Amino acid sequence: MRIMLLGAPGSGKGTQAALLKEKYGIAHISTGDILRSEVARCTELGRKAESFMNSGTLVPDDVILGMIESRLVEPDAERGWLLDGFPRTLVQAHGLIALTERIGQKVDAGVLLNIAPEIVVRRLSGRRVCGQCRGVTNVSEATPEGTCPNCGGPLALRSDDEPAVVRHRIQVFEEQTQPVFELFRGQYDVIDIDAAQGQEQVAEAIRKALSKYA
Ligand code: AP5
Repeated sequence: MRIMLLGAPGSGKGTQAALLKEKYGIAHISTGDILRSEVARCTELGRKAESFMNSGTLVPDDVILGMIESRLVEPDAERGWLLDGFPRTLVQAHGLIALTERIGQKVDAGVLLNIAPEIVVRRLSGRRVCGQCRGVTNVSEATPEGTCPNCGGPLALRSDDEPAVVRHRIQVFEEQTQPVFELFRGQYDVIDIDAAQGQEQVAEAIRKALSKYA
């Protein structure tokens, strides 16, 4: 199965991707996670990407396309993949179409998580990342001591989840990423999901829609 998980910042792509990876045993390829790992390891790519990420601006297309090109041919991607946070511009979308044709891999569908901007702002101001297990949680799920509910590690706000940066990310999404969905509607099976529902309902709606590809 080869799926693109599409949607605004904070629409729940990472949360749903973790569940889909477990269910279908396919590679979860998140451009945001790859970039954050490069930043944490202070690589050349990480140093190039960091200022774009901290300001909520997109990292240049050539950097992202190079990352995806090498990732899609790694052994764990042979059984299928789930793209999370990519493509995000028309250049990236056309790059993916050309790349999948070249390497003989066909995208089965795009799952589009639809959500209103005001819900995104609320969700992202409550998101916390564990410094120990790297799990994503919400401030309301923290232990009474304010630590990670899974491992007890320290929780922190992601640097690009500051409200002013979130507002900029939403603007970038509307201007640069939404046109990608219109392109894909003429190219792939794009499945619309109401992402304002609870996590379980969203997961169930995605499972139902993807059952024909399993
Ligand atoms: P990236 O990491 O991709 O961030 P994003 O797309 O903005 O998405 P988020 O990770 O913020 O949100 P999400 O949709 O995964 O939501 P989550 O599941 O965590 O990108 C970061 C930066 O990297 C970009 O700004 C850019 O600079 C760069 N970048 C990355 N990819 C790039 C690309 N292709 N091109 C160029 N630059 C790129 O959920 C959010 C919160 O809501 C959590 O607290 C969660 O617990 C909660 N939640 C989830 N689902 C629900 C629900 N149903 N109900 C209630 N709460 C929920």
